Amino acid sequence: MKAALTHYLDQRRALVDEALSRSLPQPPACPAIVSEAMRYSLMAGGKRLRPILTLAAAEAVHATLPADRRGPAEHAIALALPAGCAIELIHTYSLIHDDLPAMDDDEMRRGRPTSHVVYGEGIAILAGDGLLAEAFALMAREPRSAAPTDPLVDRKLRIIRRVADAAGATGMVGGQAIDLNAAGTSSLTDDDLRAMHAMKTGALIRASVAAGAIIVGATDALVDASDRFAAELGLAFQITDDILDVEATSQQMGKKTGKDAALGKPTYVTRFGVERSRQMAADCVARARLTLERAGLLEGYLVDIAEWVVGRRK
Ligand code: IPE
Ligand code: IPE
Ligand code: MG
Ligand code: MG
Ligand code: MG
Repeated sequence: MKAALTHYLDQRRALVDEALSRSLPQPPACPAIVSEAMRYSLMAGGKRLRPILTLAAAEAVHATLPADRRGPAEHAIALALPAGCAIELIHTYSLIHDDLPAMDDDEMRRGRPTSHVVYGEGIAILAGDGLLAEAFALMAREPRSAAPTDPLVDRKLRIIRRVADAAGATGMVGGQAIDLNAAGTSSLTDDDLRAMHAMKTGALIRASVAAGAIIVGATDALVDASDRFAAELGLAFQITDDILDVEATSQQMGKKTGKDAALGKPTYVTRFGVERSRQMAADCVARARLTLERAGLLEGYLVDIAEWVVGRRK
């Protein structure tokens, strides 16, 4: 990995971790057990890809604004941080539920025993529900808007709408439902498989990038371009997850590998094999890069992040 990207990811991850640790409700406002379970999964680490994408998209759009109108880059980052963190809360909830016995039945996540192993299924379900609700509270609350006419109010509403669609039945939840029903069958066509990946993983990644662009006042054209970039990246990300499930060790990934074959999951690897899947992920990244280049969004780290996503070993 390029040294500059390593530095960038470390810095942004630290910002995100700090903001996340402040984002959760605590006793006496809520029962200690649910607060503890939410924190256990959220603060277990994780790549923080989604919030970092939100920040990187905000920074890339910010760099396109005229120098006399754009203010400091730190301001763009501060504006984008709440939505990025909110999406990380939703992502963490999706992992807790994905690991439940009724779903993928996994006992390790982010290098730790899964939530239901530690707290039992009931509290794990509730910790997920709590994280989902908290995400929307955070997006409504921050960044604070000065008055009802503040452009931030409209931007926040547009972000909330996108995140809700991405998290719900038209996005992640829908994709997870397809995944669940397709396990052990060969009922999905190639197009169905791509659509399932786009929903279960791509949708939240798209919302992450779009949120960063929207909150700093991107034009519709720039939001669209960011979204097309992220759709390619999202597919590349899940294809790589499918590859790592067969190639990486559990220790590397912090979660059990070899699970997709064991559960009969339809994946890019089972459908196309590792080599073709790797090529397909690389093709997604090439298209993602081209989209940014055409939109004038190459400045910053979005392309480097896309390359990291397909080259990662965890
Ligand atoms: C894992 O996501 C679940 C998928 C969508 C494949 P990540 O690989 O981003 O997991 P963390 O957040 O780094 O733990
Ligand atoms: C999960 O996909 C996607 C989610 C919405 C959580 P996977 O089931 O492949 O994710 P991992 O491999 O368990 O992280
Ligand atoms: Mg799953
Ligand atoms: Mg899983
Ligand atoms: Mg997987």
